[in-house]
Amino acid sequence: MQQTTHKYQTMETVIFAWLLVILATTSSLVKAKYYLGSHIVDVPTTIKETHLHFFLHDTLSGDNPTSVIVAQPNSTVIKDNNNIVPFGAVFVFDDPLTEGPDPKSKVIGNARGLYALASRGSDLTLMFNGDLEFTSGEFNGSSIVVVCRDPLVLVKEMAVVGGRGKFRMAQGFIWAKAIYFNVTTGDGILEWNVTIFHQ
Ligand SMILES: *[C@@H]1O[C@H](CO)[C@@H](O)[C@H](O)[C@H]1NC(C)=O
Ligand SMILES: *[C@@H]1O[C@H](CO)[C@@H](O)[C@H](O)[C@H]1NC(C)=O
Ligand SMILES: *[C@@H]1O[C@H](CO)[C@@H](O)[C@H](O)[C@H]1NC(C)=O
Ligand SMILES: *[C@@H]1O[C@H](CO)[C@@H](O)[C@H](O)[C@H]1NC(C)=O
Repeated sequence: MQQTTHKYQTMETVIFAWLLVILATTSSLVKAKYYLGSHIVDVPTTIKETHLHFFLHDTLSGDNPTSVIVAQPNSTVIKDNNNIVPFGAVFVFDDPLTEGPDPKSKVIGNARGLYALASRGSDLTLMFNGDLEFTSGEFNGSSIVVVCRDPLVLVKEMAVVGGRGKFRMAQGFIWAKAIYFNVTTGDGILEWNVTIFHQ
């Protein structure tokens, strides 16, 4: 009997302790708020303009592709319109960035993200969403974020919408030129001239 009472009291203590924990958690949840305040910041009166020049290698063919198709519509109508890839196809890529046009030249970063075939007609256009991180030199660990339509033409302008590290809050633009494109495989090498405005 003594033993049972002791056990009962112990259990009561445990339950009480748990109740305290639950109470503490829920009351902190109740107090939690999503708005943490605003304040005026000094915006720099000067910003930097940085130029980068590199080559992006997008390889769909072979045993070691850097871009893979992950989804496409199940529609024979769309598949039969003679395009290499159908409208709606989605690719995930991890493309090396090199200093020179030769795929064997020094790798200075990688472009990771997704692109999708976003045009219904024969004017093949991708929607490009990528984070390009540099892995060497001045901008090692920093990245630029590129979100833009990407028509499959020889030369095109693309938009830099942000960045990380030294390119935090960056904005800018890119002139990209396809210096190699294989219409059979879809493999391409692009020369990128990037102009970035950042703090
Ligand atoms: C794809 O389309 C074919 C032909 O219309 C149909 O038989 C098949 O069930 C579809 N598959 C899926 C996963 O929807
Ligand atoms: C780039 O930064 C990483 C992480 O800080 C470091 O491990 C690496 O050695 C650096 N590479 C170069 C080439 O500076
Ligand atoms: C990139 O800039 C270099 C040097 O100014 C120039 O030779 C090249 O044609 C430019 N390429 C693009 C795609 O703008
Ligand atoms: C394109 O790729 C195909 C298949 O790998 C190859 O046979 C052909 O020579 C390539 N064309 C060019 C211009 O590189």
